[in-house]
Amino acid sequence: MENQMEKIISLAKRRGFVFQGSEIYGGFAGTYDYGPLGVAMHRNVVDIWMGAMRQHDNIAFLDSSIFTAPRVWEASGHVSGFSDPLVVCNACHTKHRADQLLEAIGIQADEKMSDPEINKLFDANRKKLICPMCGKKDFGQVSAKSLLATSTLGAFEQGDQLVYLRGETAQGIFINYKNVLETGFYSVPFGIAQVGKVFRNEISPRQFLFRQREFEQMEMQYFVRPKDAPAAYETWKEERMNYYDILGVKKEKLRWKQHEHLVFYAKDAWDIEYEYPFGWGELEGVHYRGDYDLTQHQKFSGVDMSFYDEKTKERYIPHVVETSVGVDRTILMLLVGAYYEDEMNGEKRVVLRFAPRIAPIKVAVFPLVSNKENIVAKAREVYKSLKLSMLHISSFMIVWDDNGNIGKRYRRQDEIGTPWCVTIDYQTLEDNTVTIRDRDTGKQKRHKIEALDEYFKKMLA
Ligand code: GAP
Repeated sequence: MENQMEKIISLAKRRGFVFQGSEIYGGFAGTYDYGPLGVAMHRNVVDIWMGAMRQHDNIAFLDSSIFTAPRVWEASGHVSGFSDPLVVCNACHTKHRADQLLEAIGIQADEKMSDPEINKLFDANRKKLICPMCGKKDFGQVSAKSLLATSTLGAFEQGDQLVYLRGETAQGIFINYKNVLETGFYSVPFGIAQVGKVFRNEISPRQFLFRQREFEQMEMQYFVRPKDAPAAYETWKEERMNYYDILGVKKEKLRWKQHEHLVFYAKDAWDIEYEYPFGWGELEGVHYRGDYDLTQHQKFSGVDMSFYDEKTKERYIPHVVETSVGVDRTILMLLVGAYYEDEMNGEKRVVLRFAPRIAPIKVAVFPLVSNKENIVAKAREVYKSLKLSMLHISSFMIVWDDNGNIGKRYRRQDEIGTPWCVTIDYQTLEDNTVTIRDRDTGKQKRHKIEALDEYFKKMLA
């Protein structure tokens, strides 16, 4: 299964989904760059998530800044409490996550355990713990390493100001909750959804897109009357699990896991886990945050965060149910789930069986032969008119390919998950029909050129 990850990473690079960050300088740990196909896939993932949020009349969108007043992160508790358990090997000086070392020898641990808890567990197992870099058994004490990435801003006389890069998009939502309410379009219960970059000083970034230092989150904070929060929590849990049907994810590859050790802001927390090639791992968190964040910001900013409920004549600080999923972990899951090696017409092939809405390229247009002027001209005409008639569907990417024989072109498109290939051949010149070849079955059917856009719209619906 690890081998499958290597194949996916290699395909992702070769075909332009994802590149190692700063590759020409030897790479920069925990960073990745999306290439041409990756950008298209990324946009599809975000669009589908936003589309799902838009199904609710009471969810607003926000795009808050990455830089915020440092007090935001002091108030939220991230400055003091957002950390991972770090342990350094005394022999080779490499840094490791204590919980991961424990898990590697079959001891259940997680990064949210308290400092004394994890130190006790680490000490109890110290003799068995081996450094994965040098093989020695000589670790120091476990200490809490802040996950907040920092930078400096401004040219102040007293020196530059230390700032935190956001560790979750959620805080931008909490500090704007009153602004959104005051627009007059929303009232509790309502949600604020946001997609954006997040930065974390991960001790050991690993598993490709799974654990990075810079990644993107799609988060939604749902503000609700305290009494109604438990029911809202259950509703959102159900909705978020069902959402993965739209992405074509197999049910048996997903499961729920409740957090044993709660992060400082949570009252209850469940993860939707996916079975990656390296094992089950968190895909999305659905957390019940209570009134923790709004109360903290009220305390630190002095701004009243309460809401007066006209219907019930109550004043309260709303409770928050949050749904939080990484764009990158979603992309990794989709690549893993779509990757197949099979045989078609006696030939081995690699195919990405993406759901059509996820596929970066929807249609490839081919002239059957590239040296017959009338066929190439007709194919260009079909290509241009299809591009134009699908212009209003921004995710509808079409490519032209006349390079190599038709079999090679099919293999190339299969490898990047293009669901349909349209071929213009000799018969097209006689009756204005083309063949549409289906990626998964390899079957070809003839269709009228003038009905192509309707066909693809229907297939995508
Ligand atoms: N606001 C809640 C929050 O940030 P989280 O469980 O720390 O909760 C939410 O993160 C989601 O963000 C995760 O379920 C995962 O999809 C993604 N994520 C977290 N850390 C990540 C990392 N280092 N690299 C890539 N994605 C990450």
